[in-house]
Amino acid sequence: MVTGPLEGKSALVTGGSRGVGAGIVARLAADGARVAFTYAHSKERAQQVADAVAATGGVAQAIRADSLVEVDVVSAVAHTVDHFGGLDILVNNAGVGSFTEITDLTMTEIDAMLTVNVRSAIVAIRESLAHLGEGGRIINIGSINADRMPFPGGSIYAMTKGALSSLTRGLARELAPRGITINNVQPGPVDTDANPADGPAASAMLGVMAVDRFGTAAEVGAFVSFLAGPEAAYITGASLNIDGGFGG
Ligand SMILES: NC(=O)c1ccc[n+]([C@@H]2O[C@H](COP(=O)([O-])OP(=O)(O)OC[C@H]3O[C@@H](n4cnc5c(N)ncnc54)[C@H](OP(=O)(O)O)[C@@H]3O)[C@@H](O)[C@H]2O)c1
Repeated sequence: MVTGPLEGKSALVTGGSRGVGAGIVARLAADGARVAFTYAHSKERAQQVADAVAATGGVAQAIRADSLVEVDVVSAVAHTVDHFGGLDILVNNAGVGSFTEITDLTMTEIDAMLTVNVRSAIVAIRESLAHLGEGGRIINIGSINADRMPFPGGSIYAMTKGALSSLTRGLARELAPRGITINNVQPGPVDTDANPADGPAASAMLGVMAVDRFGTAAEVGAFVSFLAGPEAAYITGASLNIDGGFGG
């Protein structure tokens, strides 16, 4: 058993099998939470994430739930509540991006960004609110691109992340009377499969940043875990950057 600031808390992280989400799962579990997390395709990698947490004495469980499918998201929340006996922390991390100028994007790509990045977060929040109580935490994973988009080809992705920022600001008003906070974490470039630090776009991104490197999933996980903890009770409705000083 792991002790820490999140001891006794139950969490659900969407998209925890790889990248930023896996870093969040690992850190929440290391800080004492029992963590369920979803994946859509990467069954083996999801199991590796759960096994790595178990190896350190923590609790993490993978749930196959496609964020494109509303009933999957509903079931993931219900499964977490059934399995852990409640829910205290929801992290909406699952996200997809197609980076092409708008005239070249297909409606399938646009619908996927809208559904996974925005609609599934709304569904997860709606379902979770039946269970979150005093001290509850909702953390959305947005993107610095909501505020700064120095390159062509990211307009729809940026719009979806801007929607999370607005959703967060608005919902804070509804949730504060219930003792629940909601915040939106806006990473800059983080080294993942979706945005590798040695990928073709990396040098252009580093060119508009103050810090000359990509962030790590562990750094985002640490930030999210702080927001999930008891010391962050006065932070709500905020979009908070962890972006190495991303400009543009
Ligand atoms: N990396 C960056 O530079 C960066 C910067 C700013 C914001 N972000 C945001 O951070 C989040 C994670 O990004 P990442 O870079 O870690 O991406 P990633 O490496 O592509 O990993 C995406 C994760 O989300 C899951 N996922 C994708 N589509 C899903 C779906 N339909 N249903 C359920 N799970 C799904 C994936 O599961 P499967 O493996 O099963 O597909 C995987 O666990 C996203 O919201 C992204 O917009 C990333």
